Amino acid sequence: MVILTLLCIYSNKRKGCTLGIRITSVDIGLRFGLEHFLVFFFFLTYTFYFSFFFSPEKLLVLTVATQETDGFHRFMQSANYFKFNVKVLGMGEEWKGGDVGRSIGGGQKVRLLKEAMESLADQEDFVVLFVDSYDLIFAGGPEEILRKFQQTNHKLVFAAEGIIWPDSRLAEKYPSVRNGKRFLNSGGFIGYTRYIQKIVNQWDLHDNDDDQLFYTKIYVDPLQREKLNMTLDHKCEIFQNLNGAVVNNHFFFLSYIIYFNYLANYIPNVWNYEQGCTICDQDMVDLSQLKEFPQVTVGIYIEQPTPFLTEFLERFLSLDYPKDKLNVFVHNSEVYHEKHIQKFWEENKDVFRSFKVVGPEETLTQGEARNMGIDLCRKDLSCDYYFSIDADVMLTNRQTIKLLIEQNRKIIGPLVTRHGKLWSNFWGALSLDGYYARSEDYIDIVQGKRVGVWNIPFMAHIYLIKGHTLRNELKERNVFVLERLDPDMAMCRNARDLGLFMYVTNRHEFGRLISIANYNTSHYNNDLWQIFENPLDWREKYINPNYTRIFTDNILEQPCPDVFWFPVLSEKACDELVEEMENHGSWSGGKHEDKRINGGYETVPTDDIHMKQIDFDKEWLHFIREFISPVTLKVFSGYYTKGYAIMNFVVKYTPNRQAYLRPHHDSSTFTINIALNNKGLDFQGGGCRFHRYNCSIESPRKGWSFMHPGRLTHLHEGLPTTNGTRYIAVSFIDP
Ligand SMILES: *[C@@H]1O[C@H](CO)[C@@H](O)[C@H](O)[C@H]1NC(C)=O
Ligand SMILES: *[C@@H]1O[C@H](CO)[C@@H](O)[C@H](O)[C@H]1NC(C)=O
Ligand SMILES: *[C@@H]1O[C@H](CO)[C@@H](O)[C@H](O)[C@H]1NC(C)=O
Ligand SMILES: *[C@@H]1O[C@H](CO)[C@@H](O)[C@H](O)[C@H]1NC(C)=O
Ligand SMILES: *[C@@H]1O[C@H](CO)[C@@H](O)[C@H](O)[C@H]1NC(C)=O
Repeated sequence: MVILTLLCIYSNKRKGCTLGIRITSVDIGLRFGLEHFLVFFFFLTYTFYFSFFFSPEKLLVLTVATQETDGFHRFMQSANYFKFNVKVLGMGEEWKGGDVGRSIGGGQKVRLLKEAMESLADQEDFVVLFVDSYDLIFAGGPEEILRKFQQTNHKLVFAAEGIIWPDSRLAEKYPSVRNGKRFLNSGGFIGYTRYIQKIVNQWDLHDNDDDQLFYTKIYVDPLQREKLNMTLDHKCEIFQNLNGAVVNNHFFFLSYIIYFNYLANYIPNVWNYEQGCTICDQDMVDLSQLKEFPQVTVGIYIEQPTPFLTEFLERFLSLDYPKDKLNVFVHNSEVYHEKHIQKFWEENKDVFRSFKVVGPEETLTQGEARNMGIDLCRKDLSCDYYFSIDADVMLTNRQTIKLLIEQNRKIIGPLVTRHGKLWSNFWGALSLDGYYARSEDYIDIVQGKRVGVWNIPFMAHIYLIKGHTLRNELKERNVFVLERLDPDMAMCRNARDLGLFMYVTNRHEFGRLISIANYNTSHYNNDLWQIFENPLDWREKYINPNYTRIFTDNILEQPCPDVFWFPVLSEKACDELVEEMENHGSWSGGKHEDKRINGGYETVPTDDIHMKQIDFDKEWLHFIREFISPVTLKVFSGYYTKGYAIMNFVVKYTPNRQAYLRPHHDSSTFTINIALNNKGLDFQGGGCRFHRYNCSIESPRKGWSFMHPGRLTHLHEGLPTTNGTRYIAVSFIDP
């Protein structure tokens, strides 16, 4: 793991370089903020331009890559940025060099280099830089590297690291160094053509033998060392190596790759404060240039009781993407949601290119279900993308699928966060045991202070994977089942192990994650109870869309003196509240004796059910405080309501039970009275009359509330409902 760099040493004041940070280990890198890193880095790259001794054309970069991995792509991007002359060896060849990084191997690299050097025999004055590519980026240009190389006063310079690998018995043969790193790392070296030839010509081993061991044995031989005029970059002036500890320890390996990926989100000049993301627009797919839209297989996962599922499905339907290009697969593991899915299926079964539902009766594990979804795309050669979305993602951006496709990554997810929280669908770092850790930039990314496309080690809930990637890199993987990991952890671990980068983009607002905690499904319409857990979604579902216009457009009406009339509940809120009450069913019957109230006697009884009876009083009072109190303040200026009410109930008027209510006062400072259904449609008659003003309101509007003083001035009556059933919700506020 190497970064070629010009970053000068933090503490080395003698060279006149007090700015800059050198990353000598993961720890030090983490301790210094990246902000310093970036600022100093740019300062340095531009100030050293004046002094070079070689022409940069004389530097040839050689690297071995058998596949165009994401890491290779990133390497080339950084090389192109600095205009390095790069020659790639071995592309398309089968890799026989073993699993480098976890075990020994890499001999194939030496063999390929040896072959390539033969063709450079006549270019003795060239300097060759040989580097790994999958896990390397350039942080400085050719001039800087040549200058640094020249300063070493050697003909061949290898990267150095603090840990000896692969044969620790060779440690004592190494020359000691007073400071800096002692041991050879073959991930990068630089030298004159002839000297590189001299060293690689000694190779006569196999492709799966270890390259580092080969070079190490030459280096620890004093005669060879002198003959080849060979040294190590002990102080990491050229090669920055993040790999400071045991390579074959999986978790350390993991953490420094992740840290390296994180750095590469910024270096070289990938992102900075002034310009933001400089590479985000590169290699985009232009959908408008395609003959037709790509085919997408969508996996929808409902793996636990999830609030606002109907709204989730509505949002999915409203995505701006041709439906005949979508193959939809739904996995629902909850019996509770079968009714919602059934309805969705009936209404949309002919809308998509294909539509498949797997329900709870199949008893699939989450991992099996997710594998099934991915297989639908993997096995269908016409499937261009696999789009996975969990039911707790509320997509508010209708362009989401298009935007993700356009970004053109093998695996990419949109950033979604819990409203007003730092909780999101990605992790910026992993702890040593593979779980959540916070990266330095996590909060800025979540809050949109840094905008871009970020290489990250873990994500879940929503992502797009290329069909090609499923059929190639992930071909033989049981993507969601690995050891005992959660399915999402398994997927990300598989991707990381294969060197597949996972990106999360926050270049647009995409939507949010809802909370699925505390979802009690023992009521009839359970979302009504979500006012605390998911306030934003509750508001969108249950508050009248015109509610805010009370404050902006002054749409509030005053049909009788001091009787105010305004929209507050949505259609859905009205319907669900009525359903909830009818489902409960124990209407009081309008009798004077009433055990539910203090004293047990009601002088003006209605046929009603109290909110408390359906266990909705806390939620209802919260609704009053959130949505009624602001209106009170507007109309009764100077009166600050406590927003408190003991009597909160739904009244039912119907000709054959109770059709009207005789004139009365309310035991309240003011009363709200919300119509829960439609005159004309659901009932005839009804309304309210205020005696003092000889004023009646005979056409109540569904979802609209009256608000009027309860005592003294506002003696009122409920006018007879002549047909059908009328429902109202009433609260006596500040009794
Ligand atoms: C390496 O070569 C340089 C000249 O290019 C020479 O000054 C130096 O002494 C040599 N070092 C060794 C260890 O041979
Ligand atoms: C769910 O609601 C029911 C009915 O109100 C209540 O009895 C039960 O305690 C609630 N369960 C939880 C876990 O809150
Ligand atoms: C909101 O107000 C507009 C304009 O007055 C009206 O057309 C629309 O139907 C109202 N929406 C609802 C849900 O009441
Ligand atoms: C009340 O108003 C109605 C018309 O709205 C009118 O016919 C009636 O005479 C009024 N009653 C009184 C007592 O003013
Ligand atoms: C009462 O309502 C029902 C439907 O709910 C309708 O069929 C009937 O005609 C109505 N009667 C009157 C008198 O409006």
